[in-house]
Amino acid sequence: MKQALYIDCCVRGAASRTRRLADAFFAALGKDWQVTRLDLTQEELRPLCGAYFEERESLLREGRTDHPRFDRAHRLAEAELVVVAAPFWDMSFPALLKLYIENVSVEGITFRSTAEGLKGLCRAERCVFLTSRGGAYPDGDPMEQAVPYLRAIQRFFGIGGLDVIAADGLDLDGADVNAITAAACERAAALARAL
Ligand SMILES: Cc1cc2nc3c(=O)[nH]c(=O)nc-3n(C[C@H](O)[C@H](O)[C@H](O)COP(=O)(O)O)c2cc1C
Repeated sequence: MKQALYIDCCVRGAASRTRRLADAFFAALGKDWQVTRLDLTQEELRPLCGAYFEERESLLREGRTDHPRFDRAHRLAEAELVVVAAPFWDMSFPALLKLYIENVSVEGITFRSTAEGLKGLCRAERCVFLTSRGGAYPDGDPMEQAVPYLRAIQRFFGIGGLDVIAADGLDLDGADVNAITAAACERAAALARAL
């Protein structure tokens, strides 16, 4: 079985429109994929600060990348497909997802330094980003900072490419939320079938 890691940052749970995209994606994904879901709302992620930061620095100085606090980074590095589902918040995504990224950015696991620069160590060929947004943001709109940031992280970790499926404009006056979400779900399902 091929291994997929589903990073679920749908803070509103069952009420989340982003979650609907993720459900459509995984319903269409081939049965040869084994999916591990990481529910970030249940992960008790901590910011790198104070003693928690110092512990990480001393573990890495000692080369102890096998410490349990790095388990999430190993799971990300080993996954063959990474799927991130997160709503658009404050021009990017919830802080919970940034906390996850901060905790899995570990030298020797998800990236390493070389004389030529940083080299990503993750195995996945693709990262899929599923999102929904209150406003509408055409590709490249500078007000949309989730996609550019995740594209940088995808390259940093050595993941081959980033596919983005967004349900846009859901909170605009008169938006047909069901139609917009259904169309995005269909695009998510089509992407999953192509993987
Ligand atoms: C805390 C919070 C921050 C948000 N920030 C923005 C924003 O900056 N721009 C925007 O267009 N919509 C914003 N929204 C609206 C959401 O992007 C939109 O409702 C989205 O569909 C929520 O996804 P969900 O249904 O998966 O929770 C925000 C919503 C919340 C709850």
